Amino acid sequence: MNSPAIPLIDIRGLTHSYLPGTPLETKSLCGIDLQVHAGETVGIIGPTGSGKSTLLQHMNGLLQPQQGEVHVNGLSLADPSVDMRLIRQRVGLVFQNPEDQLFERYAGDDVAYGPRNLGLPADQVRERVRLAMEMVGLPFAYKDRLIAELSHGQKRRLALAGVLALEPQVLLLDEPTAGLDPQGRRELLQVLRQWRAKAGRAMVLASHNMEDIAELATRVYVLVAGRIAFHGSPRDLFAHYEMLVQHSLAVPAATEVMHALRQYGYPVPTDVLSMEEAVNEIKGLLHVQTN
Ligand SMILES: Nc1ncnc2c1ncn2[C@@H]1O[C@H](COP(=O)(O)OP(=O)(O)OP(=O)(O)O)[C@@H](O)[C@H]1O
Ligand SMILES: [Mg+2]
Repeated sequence: MNSPAIPLIDIRGLTHSYLPGTPLETKSLCGIDLQVHAGETVGIIGPTGSGKSTLLQHMNGLLQPQQGEVHVNGLSLADPSVDMRLIRQRVGLVFQNPEDQLFERYAGDDVAYGPRNLGLPADQVRERVRLAMEMVGLPFAYKDRLIAELSHGQKRRLALAGVLALEPQVLLLDEPTAGLDPQGRRELLQVLRQWRAKAGRAMVLASHNMEDIAELATRVYVLVAGRIAFHGSPRDLFAHYEMLVQHSLAVPAATEVMHALRQYGYPVPTDVLSMEEAVNEIKGLLHVQTN
C-alpha cells in the first residue's frame, strides 16, 4: 500500500528537448513539477504542441528525464536498477493514436501481449484478455478478428484493453476521446469511471477536450509551451475564462453560456462544470425574475 504522503507519480523540475544539440532542437518541457496521488484523475490540457504527450511518456519511462526527476511509487526512473517492466505494468499508457500501439495481427493477441510478457500461464492470460475486452465493451469473440478490419472506435477500445490487461495502478490516457462519436465518447467515459472506482487507482488524462476534463478530472494542469501555466481544480480552471481563451483552449459550452449571461449583467456563477448546473442556475435566475 502507498502511504498518502508518497505520490504514485512525482515529477520535479522535468525539462526535455527533442533532438538536443542539433539545429532542430525543440524544447518540449521546461521545469515541470507535477504529482499524481491515488484516487485522483489528473487532467492535462494545453494547445497542440504544448508537451502533453511528451509529459505522459515520461510517466511510464518511455522517455528518460534529461533534467529533473520522475519517481513512480517512490522509485526514481533514472535509477538503472529499477525494473522498467514493472514500471510499465504499474503505469499503463494508452497512446494518442491506437495505430501506434496495436501491432499484432489478431485483436486477442494484442491484448494478450502484456500479460504474456509478465510470464503468466496461458489460462490466466486468457482470463485477463476476456476481462479486459469485456471492460471496454468488446465481445470476447472479437479476439479472433483482424485488427486491420476493426473500426477506429474499436481500435481505441482494443488499445485500452491491452493496457487494462496489465492491471495497472495508474492509467495514462492521451486524448482518449479524439475521433469518437458522442455515443462512443459517453461509453468510454463510463468505462473509465468504472475502472477508477477501485481503491488505490489513479488516472492522468491529456486532452484538448474541456468537456472530458470537466466530467472526469479532480485536478488540472494547463500546459503552455512546455510550462505549467495553471494548476487547480476544474472549477477554478473554468473561472479563468480569459486565460483559456487566450491560449485558444475551447471552453465547455456551459461555461460559455454563464460568461455570456454575466456579460449581460446577470448574477450567475462562472465556474459551472456541466449543462445541468448551468440549467439550474438559469432556472434560479428565471425564478428570481418572475417573482
Ligand atoms: N519525436 C519528436 N521529434 C521532434 N520533436 C517532437 C517529437 N515529438 C514532439 N515533438 C515536438 O515537441 C513539442 C511537444 O510535442 P507533444 O507531442 O508532446 O505536444 P502535445 O501537447 O501532445 O501536442 P498535441 O496536442 O498535438 O498532441 C512540439 O513542439 C512537437 O513538435
Ligand atoms: Mg499529444
